[in-house]
Amino acid sequence: MSRSTPIYAAMRSIGAYVPPKILSNADLEKMVDTSDEWIVKRTGIRERHIADPDVATSDLAVEAARDAIARAGLEHEEIDLVLCATVTPDYFNMPSTACIISDKLGIRNVQAFDISAACSGFVYGLSIAKAFIESGMKRNVLLIGAEKFSSIVDYTDRSTCILFGDGAGAAVISATENRDEGIVDIHASADGSYADFLMTPAPGSVHPASCEVIEQGLQYVKMKGNETFKLAVKTLTKDVKEILEKNGIPAEKIDHFVPHQANYRIIKAVGDALKMREDQIIVTVEKYGNTSAASIPMAINDIYEEGRLRYGDLMLLDTFGGGLTWASALLPFAGKN
Ligand code: ACO
Repeated sequence: MSRSTPIYAAMRSIGAYVPPKILSNADLEKMVDTSDEWIVKRTGIRERHIADPDVATSDLAVEAARDAIARAGLEHEEIDLVLCATVTPDYFNMPSTACIISDKLGIRNVQAFDISAACSGFVYGLSIAKAFIESGMKRNVLLIGAEKFSSIVDYTDRSTCILFGDGAGAAVISATENRDEGIVDIHASADGSYADFLMTPAPGSVHPASCEVIEQGLQYVKMKGNETFKLAVKTLTKDVKEILEKNGIPAEKIDHFVPHQANYRIIKAVGDALKMREDQIIVTVEKYGNTSAASIPMAINDIYEEGRLRYGDLMLLDTFGGGLTWASALLPFAGKN
């Protein structure tokens, strides 16, 4: 590739992994004061996968990454950047989970780091991969979204424990000279004034680990669910309309609208605002719950494995999460079937 030739960043492959153990709504009915009816009606979730205690986020990530690298037709040593989007890293705060993943995959001497943008982490990561590739600094980026969200969920708090699940998704983003294969556009944004809508107060420099932290349950995820819900619908609708308008792409041209899988009602509201057909909207929340940074690549992998995602299909990704952060992306799938 000569220096004068423009380089684009293409999604060459996708992979995903969920741990085998399922936590159903019926199981949760035995743990907290809730019902299958309430959970399905308010969220669309029927079950989620939960990792065993001895399984780390990096273990989930490695399974997804192996598939993604193999499907990209690459050897592990051809990867030159490893990015892991997660808010449930193996360790708070070092080493990064990306470093652990690289080691477990035998990918040595590469740059590796984590991205902290909660549910928006994968699309944030996509923007980083795009920048590294288009600047010519890297050629094959392994981008992972992985969460063992069960490690920060309080299973006595019915307002959060019904929502989240564990899993990982991974993609290989590679350099290409073919403009038609490249990521079209990414919008990513944040507003820290809403930080308290969704947070794990500890451990961190504000509340280092202590007996008080544990007694008060500050290590668990806290969410202002209803406020977050309203803001998510408003922000996501505005964001996807903007990215489509800016790129002159009408919503009906999107082959797969892949929203963050937090709540079916949010997905439906945004899909309706865009006048999307049902077959355009990818919904996996009923079987995985909210897997945070893993949710979008896991959803892409689902349609890939179902044979519904073909080379050249145009995807619209859209996500919202703690920070608050949000992001959307327009890109074709450039992988083999
Ligand atoms: N079972 C039964 N009742 C419940 C449960 C439950 N599991 N949870 C809450 N309730 C009750 C509440 O106590 C409340 O009762 P009250 O009216 O007597 O006070 C009632 O149900 C309504 O509660 P709301 O919180 O107003 O319910 P809402 O319809 O907003 O649904 C939910 C809650 C599902 C959490 C929703 O607000 C939501 O999905 N929020 C957005 C989540 C999100 O998108 N997060 C961002 C991404 S996550 C990330 O970044 C990691």
